[in-house]
Amino acid sequence: MQRTDEEFRTIWLSPDDDGVVQIIDQRVLPHDFRVHDLTSWQDGATAITEMLVRGAPLIGATAAWSLYLAAKRGGHEETRTAAEGLLETRPTAVNLRWAIERVMSAANSLGDNDDLAAALRAEAEAICDEDIQISLGIGRSGVELLREIARQKANRVNVLTHCNAGALATINWGTATAPIYMAHKEGIDVHVWVDETRPRNQGSQLTAWELGQRGVPHTLIVDNAGGHLMQHGEVDIVITGTDRTTRRGDVANKIGTYLKALAARDNGIPFYVALPSTTIDWTIEDGIAEIPIEERDPREVSHVYGELDGHAVVVNTTAGDTAVSNYAFDVTPARLITGLITERGVCAASETGLSELFPDLRAK
Ligand code: MRU
Repeated sequence: MQRTDEEFRTIWLSPDDDGVVQIIDQRVLPHDFRVHDLTSWQDGATAITEMLVRGAPLIGATAAWSLYLAAKRGGHEETRTAAEGLLETRPTAVNLRWAIERVMSAANSLGDNDDLAAALRAEAEAICDEDIQISLGIGRSGVELLREIARQKANRVNVLTHCNAGALATINWGTATAPIYMAHKEGIDVHVWVDETRPRNQGSQLTAWELGQRGVPHTLIVDNAGGHLMQHGEVDIVITGTDRTTRRGDVANKIGTYLKALAARDNGIPFYVALPSTTIDWTIEDGIAEIPIEERDPREVSHVYGELDGHAVVVNTTAGDTAVSNYAFDVTPARLITGLITERGVCAASETGLSELFPDLRAK
């Protein structure tokens, strides 16, 4: 992630103390760039639940580093307790389970004399390094689509995205944003419509900010503007992220993604999902029936966070006694998805498409 010309990861081991993992507190971006210390697995769990970190790949990486902190402090027993606790933090993004299972399998394969903390540190580091390679792979697969649109159009390529599937949701580069960053770097005139993404405003607070840091032209819109823009030829392609994709290609992503897919279908606009292989849940098929959808605090809907005259403020937009529900994700059925952009190429949103690209993972 870029900030004033400096390249950052979203999570790292403190260079001064190997008992401290550091993250960026994403709740206060873009107004404040605050580095936050995690010194226990419970700190990591709170960071995930309270959304100091968020985005499927980063949630997984934070769980991995939290298990390392547990191992360092309390050995195998504490690590097992941490694994159970971390699994409960957020239900929808499958990267959480994937990362915990991977780290615990490394822990369980150790002999009595092996150094547990050293092994889990190596595993967490590997998960982060691999995540960057996955994002770059998605970038290489997806930039082809943007190049093709640029070849067919005289003027700028307009991408619409929802939520933040950017560098801030991963270790760096993002999934939906990686093709955009690559296109921009190679001189394609690319512009991004950024959905605000109520209620937590990942679009206005995070995606707009990180696109700005890399100099990518973008415009913030309210969540309901996408359909209008599509009807008027202002959107060439939609690219979103995913929190969990079933083996037949149904996609859970931030609430509102499904409505974008419907509008895209009605207007003949390609709707792509940037999918790291770590977000495929091979154990399930039917996204609507089988993906657990997180319900969060109603206060996220009734109250809005922002900055006023240099101070963080939270205001209530309701009468106070209004009933509120807050579903954080929805499921877009595979039939509405033009293709899945993965680190190994673009495939159909189907069991055949995914199995052909990932026969090794399917077999597991
Ligand atoms: O609630 P969040 O902010 O964790 O939701 C994030 C998303 O929905 C992202 O689009 C998804 O995790 C993909 S991140 C590469």
